Amino acid sequence: MTIEEQKKDIFKKLWEQYAELTPQALEISGLLKSQNEPVLNDHVAFRSVAFPGFGLKEVCAPFLNLGYEIKGDYNFEQKKLDAVHLESTDPQDPKIFVSQIKFKELSKDAQKILEKALYYVEPVGGVDLLLSGRFWEASHENYKKLYQESEYAAWFYAFGFCANHFTVSVNHLNKYSDLKTLNDFIESHGFSLNESGGKIKGSKKVCLEQSSTKASLKTLKFSDGEFEVPSCYYEFAKRYKTEEGNLYQGFVTDSADKIFESTN
Ligand code: NI
Repeated sequence: MTIEEQKKDIFKKLWEQYAELTPQALEISGLLKSQNEPVLNDHVAFRSVAFPGFGLKEVCAPFLNLGYEIKGDYNFEQKKLDAVHLESTDPQDPKIFVSQIKFKELSKDAQKILEKALYYVEPVGGVDLLLSGRFWEASHENYKKLYQESEYAAWFYAFGFCANHFTVSVNHLNKYSDLKTLNDFIESHGFSLNESGGKIKGSKKVCLEQSSTKASLKTLKFSDGEFEVPSCYYEFAKRYKTEEGNLYQGFVTDSADKIFESTN
């Protein structure tokens, strides 16, 4: 396969896995397409843990092999996360946003839960890692304990490696190229938006406006039974030109901080 074919293949598989976890994304993209709107991805996001084999570095590796480059890094002190974003040489490709929770900054109890789950399993390498989901044993009991400390850590413990969200590029829409208009359209079809920090995070001034749905609920099999937990959400991003006249390609920490809460 050429690099182009590999990229197409991996994004197709990631979308299929994500749509299964997030039926609302499939419904919303369908609604937009039924209005003849082009649905292009601004970025795809992944979560990880700074634990050997399970971190940001491992998630970035397959994208670097596909010609992506790391273009920005971010720190979320309160949520104990760092993140990077990657861009492809082909501007048609979605950007990639990869975050990781700083394992060593978690409480001893949380570290123990994650270590017990991750230490004895071997992550696959390459693009397969991105689709590998959860391949360790997890209990709902431990999920709840992690959730109390870090929603992010609990989410990763339950779902593992998969796209956490896809993001519609609002710039490419015609009728709904204003984020408020798009939000109203989505809400009018019965979907709820994440209101943490307001429905629209960011502004024209910071060159990026974002909104997102509240995560779907998914019934997962844990070692102690089946339980419904928040899965993934759909995001909408509108980018503006910087003072230099180029469309801003980065991310805004304050906004991303609130977007993370879509899975709360
Ligand atoms: Ni995002």
